[in-house]
Amino acid sequence: MAWRGVRDLFRRAGIDTAELDARLFAEAAFGMDRLELVNRERETVPTDQLKLLEGYAARRLKGEPVVRILGEKEFWGLSFKLNAATLVPRPETELVVERGLEIIGPLDGARILDLGTGTGCIPIALLTEYSDVTAVAVDLSPEALEMARFNANRHGVGDRFETLKGSWFDPLEPGARFDLITSNPPYIETAVIATLMPEVREHDPRLALDGGPDGLEAYRAIAAEAGLFLKPEGVLLLEIGSAQASTVSDILVGAGFQDVEVAKDLAGLDRVILARLTAAS
Ligand SMILES: C[S@@+](CC[C@H](N)C(=O)[O-])C[C@H]1O[C@@H](n2cnc3c(N)ncnc32)[C@H](O)[C@@H]1O
Repeated sequence: MAWRGVRDLFRRAGIDTAELDARLFAEAAFGMDRLELVNRERETVPTDQLKLLEGYAARRLKGEPVVRILGEKEFWGLSFKLNAATLVPRPETELVVERGLEIIGPLDGARILDLGTGTGCIPIALLTEYSDVTAVAVDLSPEALEMARFNANRHGVGDRFETLKGSWFDPLEPGARFDLITSNPPYIETAVIATLMPEVREHDPRLALDGGPDGLEAYRAIAAEAGLFLKPEGVLLLEIGSAQASTVSDILVGAGFQDVEVAKDLAGLDRVILARLTAAS
C-alpha cells in the first residue's frame, strides 16, 4: 500500500520515526484508523487521497514536524487544532491545568483569565472539567484567538469562553476580577532561540517563544498588573522555564505577592509558580 512507500522514503531520509509518521499521514489522508489501514491494505486508494498523502510526505521530508502537518495536538485528552500562530501545546503544561483544577474545584462559578492563550488549551481544559466555570482568553495574535475559539466550540465550551485581542491585561475592563489567572507566557531568552531544535525554532511562532533578552519580560509585565485583576483570595498560576523559579519568585514578591509556591513537573523540574496576594493563614 502507498503508505509503505512513504515509510521507505522516510527511512532513506533518515527519519527515526519513519513507520509511525507514514502511518499517521496515511490515516489522516485516507480517513482511516490504524486497524482499517491494515484491513483495507489491498484496496486501491483514490487519487485525491494519494495526493494528500504525497503532500504530507513532501512537507515531512523538508523537516516540518508531524503535528504541524496534521494541524492537531492532543492535550489533557482533548484534540486541539493548530495554526502557524499557535504554539504546539506541551505535556508539561498539563501541570498548570492540574493545579488550576485544585484552585477552582471548591469555588462556585469560578472566573478564569488566561493570558497568551494560543490554542486555548489551558482554559478549555479547565472549562471541560467544571460546567459552572467561565473563562476569558487573551492573546496578541488574532490568528491564535481564531484557533482558540474553534477549539472551545469543538469541545462544547464556546458559550463560556470569551476571547480578547491585546497585550496581557490591556484589553480587559478595569473592574474585571478573576479567581484564577493562568499563563504560559513566552519565556525563552532571545539569544537562546537560535539554539533550539529546528522543529521548535523554525515552526513554533516567535511570539510564543521570545521572552526578551533575559526571558523574563512577560513575567514582569504580568506580575506588575495581576494584583489589580485578582479577587482578594485569587491565585496567579504561571508556567516557568525550569531554571526560572527563583527569579520569577523574586519578581512576584517585588510586585506585592506574599504567598509564592513552586511546583515540579513529572520530570522533577520546577515548572509552575502559584502566587497569592495574601499569605495563606
Ligand atoms: C508559550 S505560548 C503559550 C500558548 C498556550 N497558552 C500554551 O500553553 O500552549 C505564549 C502565547 O503568548 C502570546 N503572547 C506573546 N506576547 C503576548 C502579549 N504581549 N500579550 C498577549 N499574548 C502574548 C503568544 O501569541 C502565544 O500564544
